[in-house]
Amino acid sequence: MSVLKVEKAKVFNEVITDISADKSISHRCALFSLLSNKTSLIRNYLQAEDTLCTLSIIKSLGAKIENENGVLHITPPIKIIEPPLVLDCGNSGTAMRLLMGFLSGAEGFFVLHGDKYLASRPMKRLTLPLRKIGANIDGRNDGNLSPICIRGAKLKPFDYESPIASAQVKSAMILSALNSDAPSFFKEPELSRDHTERMLKGMGVDIEYEGGKIVIHPIEKPLHPLDITVPADPSSAFFFAVAAAVVPNSKVVLKDVLLNKTRIEAFKVLQRMGTRIEFMQKEDRYESIGDITVQYAPLKAVNVSENISWLIDELPALCIAFACASGVSSVRNAKELRIKESDRISAVVKNLKLCGINADELEDGYDIEGGTFKKAVFNSFGDHRIAMSFAIASLLSGGVIEDTDCINTSFPNFTNILKKITSVENL
Ligand code: S3P
Repeated sequence: MSVLKVEKAKVFNEVITDISADKSISHRCALFSLLSNKTSLIRNYLQAEDTLCTLSIIKSLGAKIENENGVLHITPPIKIIEPPLVLDCGNSGTAMRLLMGFLSGAEGFFVLHGDKYLASRPMKRLTLPLRKIGANIDGRNDGNLSPICIRGAKLKPFDYESPIASAQVKSAMILSALNSDAPSFFKEPELSRDHTERMLKGMGVDIEYEGGKIVIHPIEKPLHPLDITVPADPSSAFFFAVAAAVVPNSKVVLKDVLLNKTRIEAFKVLQRMGTRIEFMQKEDRYESIGDITVQYAPLKAVNVSENISWLIDELPALCIAFACASGVSSVRNAKELRIKESDRISAVVKNLKLCGINADELEDGYDIEGGTFKKAVFNSFGDHRIAMSFAIASLLSGGVIEDTDCINTSFPNFTNILKKITSVENL
């Protein structure tokens, strides 16, 4: 079990060019390349545990993957292979849920499983709507928990209104609609990240927003292969944005980051708190991409209760900024935090209390009062984003984070970058 020791940081001014590639887009690149009949080219695919699991899975389903000077060439099989072994999604809810949608309409028998954390995350949010359209899908706890078993079937078109704004649910349902006989309709309570819609549209799927719903037309002719460079992940970049926002007089430039509005809301919250942030868009093909400059300024408290799905992954890191602000910050309508890689409401509040910060846990969020950090030993709860958030908190007064192997699920380069701005030791 790895342990990370972080020393208190001095002022820093860094240009960071090696933030890891976007996790959500990388998973989709691997999976969506199965939808074309030609070779997809993927540059800057995220080389982290979660997304490498997805590559292994598409290989088991028959894809041929070649790495030529860092560019992945993914050639899909003519027909999906029924894999002899279970498909290991590692720690990734995105992989498991998107595959549930995709494989429910494929021919064959498939078993999805993952690590002990993924084994406790709810899958009923997909099992139920997928069963309604004819999927043969099951698992422990009546299909709610993995291992998830699927016998692919011909699926019916649907008109589904999801009770949660979840890009994983939306993407899985969209994938399940592609081999149907007629258009399907999907509605969500608020827009969740929209990479699936953008990428599938780019590949030639007839998918559009109409009257508040997404209309998905079944695939009628072969899709174009992907030819894409995965941008840096704003959720990973955000850890260093918070570092610059809380270490007095510091500054970072985060290069070539995905600027999709559904992914940079946490940067906007930091801006509202007083941090000086500039976005400089450099390209806009499948997605908007550019540099983000973040410069320290004193922080004031903020209330966050809207567009929660646009910053759900960044809330643990944002809490560190709340704890440095003057006044009490609050988060509401965020009960989804409880079913992420860990219960992120309870994990954040427990760790903040350990370093002397006043924090109150609520069912759907928390209240955090700005204060002075003291040195502490933090638990990662096996969750990469908790581990990295408290590594950033440790820049303020020093700290030790236990059980940090999980960082490799999304951002293996995190510790190296942190080393550039302070003194870090792997114990
Ligand atoms: C993701 C969607 C979000 C997010 C997760 C990645 C995706 O989950 O928290 O890290 O790539 O679609 P939900 O769909 O559960 O909100």
